[in-house]
Amino acid sequence: MDIKIRIEDFSLHYSDGKESLRHITLDIYANQINVLFGPSGGGKSSLLRALNRLNDLTDVAVQEGRILLDGEDIAAPGYDVIRLRRRVGIVFARPVPLPMSIYRNVTYGLELAGIKDRAQWDAAVERSLKQAALWEEVSDRLDESGYALSGGQQQRLCLARALALQPEVVLLDEPTSGLDPISTSKIERTLQELKSEYTFVAVPHSVQQAARIADWATFFLQGELIEHGDGKTIFTTPQNSQTNEYITGRFG
Ligand SMILES: Nc1ncnc2c1ncn2[C@@H]1O[C@H](COP(=O)(O)OP(=O)(O)O)[C@@H](O)[C@H]1O
Ligand SMILES: [Mg+2]
Repeated sequence: MDIKIRIEDFSLHYSDGKESLRHITLDIYANQINVLFGPSGGGKSSLLRALNRLNDLTDVAVQEGRILLDGEDIAAPGYDVIRLRRRVGIVFARPVPLPMSIYRNVTYGLELAGIKDRAQWDAAVERSLKQAALWEEVSDRLDESGYALSGGQQQRLCLARALALQPEVVLLDEPTSGLDPISTSKIERTLQELKSEYTFVAVPHSVQQAARIADWATFFLQGELIEHGDGKTIFTTPQNSQTNEYITGRFG
């Protein structure tokens, strides 16, 4: 299995002194769905944000250890953070369309990246919306506002916006929490179909979803990595008793 991201003895404290991640060592595999799961407060979102340095924008006091993308330390002096965020895109729990047309929601990142060619935009819009399983529902109304879409469609629009920049890694933080079952299954299917082209790191909103989508799964509890393994093993015969108690619903 090719390693896309290597997380080495990584710890993170917020400036209020609270330790959010303790000595995490974990490999993220290329062209796989890598799932991070566990109860709220375990540090999953903090770790996702570390992977494209969004924590630079929050109150992180101290980070220790290293995160290597294709073998390169993303915190090295002079490392290009803008380029990092193009290579490692993110989709959040709540869909946040930009206050503009469906079309421009997808092309906005390209515009920011300096791409001005209309034909390139058209191609990116069709490709990304198809990849996000939204094209058939919106192809005849690309000029309508992103806000005109349902919640589930808006989330697929946000996924399309992330995919438009052709990232290598896509981080998904509870991307289907609060979505209807049809949109949820469309997004899950999309991840399966696209993983040959992308590396996914996903925090699912439930154990059931984690078990459905995980090629690899990592269980986090209160800032510690408890268990890591292939999805089938973790969700059928976990080695750790805390993992077992969590997946069988004995605590949330
Ligand atoms: N911006 C922040 N400032 C201070 N503490 C934070 C911040 N974000 C998260 N935390 C704390 O870090 C811990 C891990 O949170 P988080 O990464 O959101 O976990 P999860 O996504 O697993 O629920 C929690 O104790 C949380 O309160
Ligand atoms: Mg979270």
